[in-house]
Amino acid sequence: MDTQCLTIAGLEVRLAHHPQVWSPLSAIEMMSFLVENDLLVNLKQRRVLDFGTGSGIVGIVCGLLGAAPLVLSDYSKVAADMAVQNAQLNKLFQVQGVQSDRFAQIPTQPYDLIISNPPVQPWLFTDLDCPSTREKAAAWNEAGADGRLVLDALLKTAQSYLVTGGQLITSASSRHGQRQTVHLLNTFWPNRWQQIYASEHAILPDYHGPYIPMWQRLQALDGDLRIYQMDDRGRRFAKQADAHGQPIIITTLDIDERSQPVLLYPEDEAIWSAKTPDGQELVQLSSEDNRLPGPAINQHWYYEYYLFQAFAP
Ligand SMILES: C[S@@+](CC[C@H](N)C(=O)[O-])C[C@H]1O[C@@H](n2cnc3c(N)ncnc32)[C@H](O)[C@@H]1O
Repeated sequence: MDTQCLTIAGLEVRLAHHPQVWSPLSAIEMMSFLVENDLLVNLKQRRVLDFGTGSGIVGIVCGLLGAAPLVLSDYSKVAADMAVQNAQLNKLFQVQGVQSDRFAQIPTQPYDLIISNPPVQPWLFTDLDCPSTREKAAAWNEAGADGRLVLDALLKTAQSYLVTGGQLITSASSRHGQRQTVHLLNTFWPNRWQQIYASEHAILPDYHGPYIPMWQRLQALDGDLRIYQMDDRGRRFAKQADAHGQPIIITTLDIDERSQPVLLYPEDEAIWSAKTPDGQELVQLSSEDNRLPGPAINQHWYYEYYLFQAFAP
């Protein structure tokens, strides 16, 4: 069997590979950060649900820290089965694999910790209702037209699967649309959540390339920068077309001493009009105004990757 050995913050993890199952990438960054910063302590005999488990890596690291029993869930049956095999490879035996579209089949027993590195790509290749059409692992990283299907389920529903004071840890990305993530955290976990980590990554043309137009369409609608370029002052922006094909710049501007998301429309060659995402005009800027983003420092597009934790009341 084709297996890989990873070391995550000193913990050795062995994983078998399957071409239809997502291989760990961001999970290595996620779990290294959580272990190295003592954010996964007191897990002994704690019941853990790894939601969207893929190879099982996230749940397995929790198991190696003493968590038991583990529920490893995934919409892909191949992944759920493989995650259990991988847990056993790592000598973890109090493990249940569950095939479930989000929470549909998740055992309702309350969990001490629900942890997830959910899918993020907007729908492109997959028929979400038909798991058998998703032959490639990458297709399993797609999550609805806006990429939020699984993350939204977690933020809205995880609480009812947690013990009192139980913990949710999830990754999210600017690609999901950060304002909606924060809105759901404020709505469902008011004053009970924190962002604990952020890192910036370059968009990989070979993998992310086909999704770029979809993120651009989404951000033209709501002004929430999912992917961006940077100028020499580190300002983030996207120069692209709006929903009607008109050229725009999406960025943030300091207006009234507050950084605000804006869509900049060229009025003529010399004037840009800054509007709120819902079309309200804020200010007009000359093209010489140094608040406008300058040229991109390179050709790369970037996104941010975040970790959040939240606690059930
Ligand atoms: C980015 S991968 C993460 C896998 C693993 N947790 C890791 O971090 O390496 C996202 C996982 O979510 C699963 N998934 C996709 N849609 C799902 C859904 N509707 N319900 C549950 N899991 C889903 C995919 O099969 C995939 O294994």
